[in-house]
Amino acid sequence: MDPNPGVLNALPKTIRFRPPSETQRAVVDLLDQTCLPNQVTRLECFDVDTLHDAIVRLVVRGAPAIGVAAAYGVLLAEVQEDASLDERVRAYRIAADRLATSRPTAVNLFWALDAMRSGIDRFLREEAHGNAPDPAKGTALQTRLVEIATQIDREEAGRCQAIGEHGAAYLDRLVATDSVRILTHCNAGALATTGIGTALAPVYCLHQQGRSVEVIADETRPLLQGARLTAWELATAGVSVTVCTDSMAAQVLSQRKIDAVIVGADRIAANGDVANKIGTYGLAVAAKHHGVPFLVAAPISTFDSNIATGDLIPIEQRSEKEIRQPDRSANAWTPREADVMNPAFDVTPAGLIQAIVTQLGVIERPTELSVATHLNSAANRSI
Ligand code: MRU
Repeated sequence: MDPNPGVLNALPKTIRFRPPSETQRAVVDLLDQTCLPNQVTRLECFDVDTLHDAIVRLVVRGAPAIGVAAAYGVLLAEVQEDASLDERVRAYRIAADRLATSRPTAVNLFWALDAMRSGIDRFLREEAHGNAPDPAKGTALQTRLVEIATQIDREEAGRCQAIGEHGAAYLDRLVATDSVRILTHCNAGALATTGIGTALAPVYCLHQQGRSVEVIADETRPLLQGARLTAWELATAGVSVTVCTDSMAAQVLSQRKIDAVIVGADRIAANGDVANKIGTYGLAVAAKHHGVPFLVAAPISTFDSNIATGDLIPIEQRSEKEIRQPDRSANAWTPREADVMNPAFDVTPAGLIQAIVTQLGVIERPTELSVATHLNSAANRSI
C-alpha cells in the first residue's frame, strides 16, 4: 500500500539513507528530534557509534523508526572497499550487536537487527554453493543488506498506512458524530516511523477523508514528546491539536468530550499487555474509569510472542538528569537530597485495552488466544 502522500509531503523525512559507494561512505541522516519544535535540523551519522548515541539521546525515537535506523546502521560498519566476505560479516555482526545495546524496550530494534542478521546467514548459505571471488562476495553481501534495510523501511511505511485505514474504519463505527476528538500520549506519528505513524495514522486517514478531527496531545513528561513532537507534527500537517499536561488528562476524560484514546506501543507481550511511554498506564486507567475506549495502534513488528506477560518486558531506566534538570542551562528542579526515578515506559494490562489495531486489522479485547490467532494470520502474509 502506498504511504499517505499528503502528510508525508508536509513533514521532513525522519530517516534518510545514502548507501555506500566507491567514492562515499554510507550515511544515516536523521531529523534531529531533540531540536524540535524550535529548529528543523538533521544529524548525519557516518559511523555506528554516532548512530548508537543518536538513538540513546532520542535524536531518532519511536519503536518503528528505531528499528529502521538500526537496520541501516549495520551498513555504517567500518569496512574497507576491498574487504573479504569474512571481514565484512564480522564487521556487520559487531555493528548489529552494538546497535542492539542502544535502547532495551522497543522490540522493533531487535526485530530489525535480527532481519539483518538473518540476511547475512542466508547470504552465507547461498555463497557456500557459489564460486564468486572475494572481495566481490563482500560487495554482494553489502548490496543484499542495503536491499533488506530498504525493504524494512518501505514495509514499515506501508504498515502505517494499513494501520491508519483499519483504525479510521474502526473509529468511524465507534463515533457517530461528525467530528472526532482523540487524546494521545507521546508521539506515535510520522516522526516515530517512516510512514504516517501508528496512533496518528487513523487521525491522518480521517482528516484526509474530510472528517473533522481534533487531537488532544498529552505533553508527555519528562521529555515532552507530546508537546514538542506530536503538536508540531500535527500542526505542520494541518490537523487541529491542543496540548494538555499529563496531569490534566483525567479531568479532560471526565468531561466526556473525548471519543477515544489512541497510543502507540514499544512492545506487546503474548497476552496483549502493552509497554509504551511512561504515563500510558495511568491514562488507560482513567479512560476505563470514564468509559472512554482505549486503543493501541502498532505494527506486527512490535509484538513479542517470546514474552508471556507485560511484567517481563525490560523497561528502560533513563538518566536522572532528565528529571532533575531538564534544561541544562537553567536551575535544577529537584533538590540534590531527593532521589528521583525515571523509567521511560510503563505497562498497560490487556484488560484495559478495547482494541489493538495492526496492519492486518483489529484485535478487540486482546487475550493470549486472540493475539496468537492474529499473529498466525500475519505469519502467512507479508505485509
Ligand atoms: O522514548 P520514545 O520517544 O522512543 O517513546 C516512544 C513511544 O513510547 C511511542 O509511543 C512508541 O514507540 C510507538 S511509536 C510508533
